[in-house]
Amino acid sequence: MTETLLQAAALVRENAHAPYSKFKVGAALRTASGKVFVGCNVENVAYPEGTCAEAGAIAAMVAAGEREIAEILVIADSPLPVSPCGGCRQKLAEFGAPEVAVTMATTAGKSETAALSALLPGAFSGAHIGGEA
Ligand code: THU
Repeated sequence: MTETLLQAAALVRENAHAPYSKFKVGAALRTASGKVFVGCNVENVAYPEGTCAEAGAIAAMVAAGEREIAEILVIADSPLPVSPCGGCRQKLAEFGAPEVAVTMATTAGKSETAALSALLPGAFSGAHIGGEA
């Protein structure tokens, strides 16, 4: 299954709009129902308006009526497996359980996998605002 995510993330990465950083990122997630959604980074000349690959995949998932991430893979042409930024870790925690596997891969074939809870320990959650965790 991770093989499918690897192929999907590598493919969508080619569509990334990264003229400023030149750093193309692809993300592919599988939902609890087994569907796969992809996203790539979309930069903007007003730099802070750019969005990460993970955010794109999450938006596609939610637009399709799905809300539960089972697994996610992120890929870039980087010396080290690309690590989701802090903001994306929080976005992932909105839709992924603590045990969700986050695979960080490079186009050269390196990869590391970590649980979402290890990437964002002590996550701010619904429990903090008196809702569901
Ligand atoms: N980026 C992602 O899309 N995902 C990550 O996990 C790390 C960083 C993007 C944001 C920006 O377009 C480029 O990579 C360089 O930071």
